[in-house]
Amino acid sequence: MRWGYFILLLSFFSCAETNSPNLHDSEVKVRIPSAFPELVYPADNSPTKLRVELGRRLFYDNRLSQDESLNCGSCHVLSAAFTDGRATSQGLHGSVGKRNAPTLANVAWLKRLMMEGGVPTLETQILVPLHDSTEMAPSMMPIVDRLNEDEYLRALSLVAYGRDSIDPFVVTRALACFQRTFISGDSRYDRSLQGRNDQMNERELRGRDLFFSPRTQCSECHSGVFFTDMNFYNIGLFDEYADRGKARATDRDEDVGRFKTPTLRNIQLTAPYMHDGHMKSLEEVVRFYNAGGTAHRNKDGRIRPLGLTDEEQADLIAFLTTLTDWNFVQNEELLPLGK
Ligand code: HEC
Ligand code: HEC
Repeated sequence: MRWGYFILLLSFFSCAETNSPNLHDSEVKVRIPSAFPELVYPADNSPTKLRVELGRRLFYDNRLSQDESLNCGSCHVLSAAFTDGRATSQGLHGSVGKRNAPTLANVAWLKRLMMEGGVPTLETQILVPLHDSTEMAPSMMPIVDRLNEDEYLRALSLVAYGRDSIDPFVVTRALACFQRTFISGDSRYDRSLQGRNDQMNERELRGRDLFFSPRTQCSECHSGVFFTDMNFYNIGLFDEYADRGKARATDRDEDVGRFKTPTLRNIQLTAPYMHDGHMKSLEEVVRFYNAGGTAHRNKDGRIRPLGLTDEEQADLIAFLTTLTDWNFVQNEELLPLGK
């Protein structure tokens, strides 16, 4: 019923006079892997063709950064599952940020965004890179003014959101709408779960069993279809954390060094690893877990020496490579338009 009303509204706006009179919006059916939970959209931001198109244009638009040198896709590159291959991201004027750019695969389902979980929705998250001077720009208003000079974007904004000029509401909604189409659930591991026995070799199967075993406990934090419990842990990376993690948001000592469990989907493509990108390879990560980490007072009890042989460590890494979704990272609908 709400849809009926919505589509009526849309057709009203698409008849309104714009400089691009041929724009017509329609509902988008987003395909969700059968093992994933349902996607619940915010009431004011269900996906439509033009909302997604507007978001896609904005995501790759340099006018979103103060000196027009960066767009979201500068640090979130599709071929690297929306990461950037750097230890920490490079921001405006070549300044170096403090954190490793995370993948945006399946961000639609994250309950809390950013590594300390301080941001509740994709709509509000966008204000963070925009306002963080080491990322894009100190203020939204000059950006919005610049975007409004573009008549096609204004026309899109009118038909997609019923607003005749681009404003922060439209920018944040449209970017969120586009990012909710970043859905990755077609790895060899997923196909093996669907009953296809030809997807994983012996080594990968041994690695899978280790990953889900009480011996390693990997799957207790990297759990469920997204390989994250969306919780926060200190895994004993350092004796002293330069980045205090969740304590940045809460200012509590017990939160020092606690970061959100990252997804492991497409992990093979998202090196370097950890919040500050200091680990260059999966070999290094698995060696770290096997050694058991530092003795930090906040370290989770499950991070302890595991006693895995070299062979077993190689098995675990082999399993992690079955989580790569090659169709996702080659999906042209997620690239800039016209490329
Ligand atoms: C200069 C590099 C850079 C640019 C440009 C950038 N990001 Fe990011 N992004 C990052 C880094 C680094 C983080 C992790 C920050 C943190 O957790 O504190 C991040 C985090 C995120 C997250 C949270 C993901 C999660 O797992 O919690 C989302 C969503 C996101 N960015 C979307 C965007 C969008 C949309 C844009 C464009 C408006 C953008 N980013 C521009 C580097 C960048
Ligand atoms: C106590 C919860 C917990 C357990 C158990 C755990 N992890 Fe993690 N894992 C995390 C957290 C939290 C991070 C991010 C830490 C940071 O950046 O400070 C992480 C990071 C990673 C990363 C890097 C991800 C990235 O995008 O940078 C990989 C790979 C990984 N873990 C694999 C494993 C494997 C394999 C095991 C089992 C041997 C394991 N984890 C056990 C919580 C856990």
